[in-house]
Amino acid sequence: MYRRKKFKQFSSVETVAVSVYKCFFLSCRNYARGHKLGNLVTKDAFPRLKKVINDKNGEPFDPQPLLTLLACNVMATMCFGQNYELDDKEFRNILKFIQNFNESFGNGLLADVVPIFKYIPTYGLRAYKKNLNIWFSLIQSKIDGHKIKMQEGNVSDLVDDVLKIQAEAKAAGEDQADLLTDVNVRQVVADIFGAGIDTTVNTMNWCIAYMVNYPDVQTKVQKEIDDVIGQRLLTDKNKLPYCEAVIHEVMRIRTVLPLNVPHLTLEDTSVGGYNIPKGTQIWTNLWKLHMDEKYWMEPEQFRPERFLDEDGQALPKQDSFLPFSVGRRACVAEVLAKNEILLIFTCLFQQFTFLPAPGKEKPSLEPNFQALVTRCIPYEVVARERISGDSGT
Ligand code: HEM
Repeated sequence: MYRRKKFKQFSSVETVAVSVYKCFFLSCRNYARGHKLGNLVTKDAFPRLKKVINDKNGEPFDPQPLLTLLACNVMATMCFGQNYELDDKEFRNILKFIQNFNESFGNGLLADVVPIFKYIPTYGLRAYKKNLNIWFSLIQSKIDGHKIKMQEGNVSDLVDDVLKIQAEAKAAGEDQADLLTDVNVRQVVADIFGAGIDTTVNTMNWCIAYMVNYPDVQTKVQKEIDDVIGQRLLTDKNKLPYCEAVIHEVMRIRTVLPLNVPHLTLEDTSVGGYNIPKGTQIWTNLWKLHMDEKYWMEPEQFRPERFLDEDGQALPKQDSFLPFSVGRRACVAEVLAKNEILLIFTCLFQQFTFLPAPGKEKPSLEPNFQALVTRCIPYEVVARERISGDSGT
């Protein structure tokens, strides 16, 4: 609601660019509600993942690439109407790209803090640009494929939606149609596809790591799933308060975007008595907010119950819990992401019990910060398929 009202305040100069943003927002909402996302995760993306996990035959594995397959398939279906198998060449390239991109980005580029380095082709900057170009070529090839399909009048996914808006603006001869160039379209699609994978994968990877470290919590999760939905596919939200509390606690204690993403002041302003000039780069410390003793008792403790009342029902959302940030530029896909994560989480613990790999340490819970994201140190686990009602631990 808030966002939709804000759209009306944009000037006509921004109308076309805003249309794309709105289109994305509406597409996300379209996916998040109803059965579309549910079907996509439970009937399509998850069964592929389940097969790959079953093929491990009880052998230890690193869940990260498998979670990437799942998240990538959700985003690829939503954006491009396509799906990958684990051994698809294109999916392997995406995995490689994500790894190279994160390594080249590291914990930020020198050019971000010392602007003159923008003009000096340091190794980091060159590697970063090279990776971006690989990513953009992939996205562009998808968009080009969609343009051909569009000529046949086929509008079925997010890229189609964005191209349709672009075509309509051009046909209407809107003065500002030039604002929505092919580069803008590519950038919007690349942002959406990129933003939707790493965040979801790392949140789920933390969920598995915590469940292996806290087997009693995993057992309670499974009991709630068995009691409420059994072997069915989850279709209703708000019926699994304990599972949601566990997800929230994971998102709090290992805030996946600890410093949010950088913003820039568009005018002189002040916050908390400090003057901030126009053009200042702003980082908001969500990690600190989530670990602040002012708001969270013993914040270092993993305690899902802090999100529940004494009857085990969800407490209202607290202002000090902002994994998706806040305000006009908060995560545009918040509703979609929350639903997607709950669906994946439910499927995983409905079907499997995750255990430490024999002879190995439990997954480390130490955060590893890279490319703006709080990641797990790579770990291996064993997944035991569940017979209904069996906690497997
Ligand atoms: C655990 C899941 C996720 C978390 C924690 C998360 C968190 C965030 C945060 C903190 C921001 C920055 C907000 C700001 O600038 O103040 C953001 C932006 C964004 N997110 Fe998410 N996100 C998640 C999943 C997703 C998914 C699944 C998608 C795509 C379907 C997505 C798309 C985006 C986009 C496009 C932006 C940029 C919005 C803008 O520039 O205004 N996110 N997200």
